[in-house]
Amino acid sequence: MERVVPLFCFSLLVLLATCSSPYHGAWALQSETLTRELLESARDPDFLDWLRRVRRRIHEYPELAFQEELTSELIRSELDSLGIEYAWPVAKTGVVATIGSGAQPWFGLRADMDALPIQELVEWEHKSKIDGKMHACGHDAHVTMLLGAAKLLQNNRDKLKGTVKLVFQPGEEGYAGAHYMIQDGALDGVQAIFALHVDPALPTGSLSGKPGPMLAGSGRFSVIIQGKGGHAASPHKTRDPIVALSMTILALQHIVSRETDPLEARVVSIGFVQGGEALNVIPETVKFGGTFRFMNSESYSYLKQRIKEVIETQATVHHCTAVVDFMEDKLKPYPATINHPTMYEHAKRVGENLLGEQNMQLHTMIMAAEDFSFYAQKIPAAFFMIGTRNETMKSVKGLHSPHFVMDEDVLPVGASLHAAVALAYLDGRAENSVAT
Ligand SMILES: *[C@@H]1O[C@H](CO)[C@@H](O)[C@H](O)[C@H]1NC(C)=O
Ligand SMILES: [Zn+2]
Ligand SMILES: [Zn+2]
Repeated sequence: MERVVPLFCFSLLVLLATCSSPYHGAWALQSETLTRELLESARDPDFLDWLRRVRRRIHEYPELAFQEELTSELIRSELDSLGIEYAWPVAKTGVVATIGSGAQPWFGLRADMDALPIQELVEWEHKSKIDGKMHACGHDAHVTMLLGAAKLLQNNRDKLKGTVKLVFQPGEEGYAGAHYMIQDGALDGVQAIFALHVDPALPTGSLSGKPGPMLAGSGRFSVIIQGKGGHAASPHKTRDPIVALSMTILALQHIVSRETDPLEARVVSIGFVQGGEALNVIPETVKFGGTFRFMNSESYSYLKQRIKEVIETQATVHHCTAVVDFMEDKLKPYPATINHPTMYEHAKRVGENLLGEQNMQLHTMIMAAEDFSFYAQKIPAAFFMIGTRNETMKSVKGLHSPHFVMDEDVLPVGASLHAAVALAYLDGRAENSVAT
């Protein structure tokens, strides 16, 4: 639009500006009706039953990052029976499905497939059948909601003014699956993307998002401090790595408390400490590690540099040496998740239509991280939390808890929301391209 500004008079600009807003005219009404029809379809008993079966099947066979073979197979077989084409493998187990003519514009919807190394402690009929693995972050529901959207969109494909790309990705839980999906071309030609994450802090049937920064970026570090072991009764003949570690961990606390603008969000947390065996022996080495969180790339670079400096210098003070490993070759750091203001508004309006204004909440910024951020770095993106809290069925435990329970009533809501966000986006885009 900026490029043509000098050529048009003011009134024409106003007209164009109106057309570039995705909310105007007859289609908005059509779209509102369709949005509610989508939810009704997804709540049809047969549809709902199918959603529940898919989700329970995935829940019973959880798979960790980049091992999502069964999950990927289930997705492909459901897509096959819906007559939807897809590319596979993308980033090892990922699937990218295409609904519509293939014509531009292309809109992306994303679900993550991986489970967590957690032993499920909920006793129910569809408990995880794999020891030590559990869908405790709701990714089983994410996949199911996206398959639900696939079915709704395929049934309404005559109304699609463009193409929807369904991105089923591996390895969200720390392994940057999104990054590898992008590397394998999952976003090529896609203009904007949307995703949902279940949230047991919000009541079922409600939705929460935030424009701009919503989730933090995340990096990790692991440290070995090398000293000189010996008898605990003769500390002067050793180089005690336990004292070095203790002082180092305290010194690390000052990076945020003393060196960071109090109005800037950063975190440095130590998550593990390991070292020593006996009460009367000073060990040769000790290990510790943790995570750091930030909202932009400058903070990321600063924290990384200072974490390394503080650890190495503190070790030296205590006559030890330290090796700091940021593990970035295996565990890529996540950037912050930043919602694009226009995409955020778009998804919010669709959410309001579907769920009612009273069920929309403004999310606060939190320091958790999500690899959806990699998509948001490339194209306009919106990430929303969708409620699963129901006191009656006790779906109130937090994400990553071994007691995590899902309110499956979220499935038709999420399925229709995905579909409606995509349909309405393509509607708006198609009209824009006609108008301009
Ligand atoms: C909570 O779950 C119960 C039992 O499944 C159900 O009857 C009720 O409608 C749910 N409440 C809400 C607010 O979704
Ligand atoms: Zn998680
Ligand atoms: Zn998650």
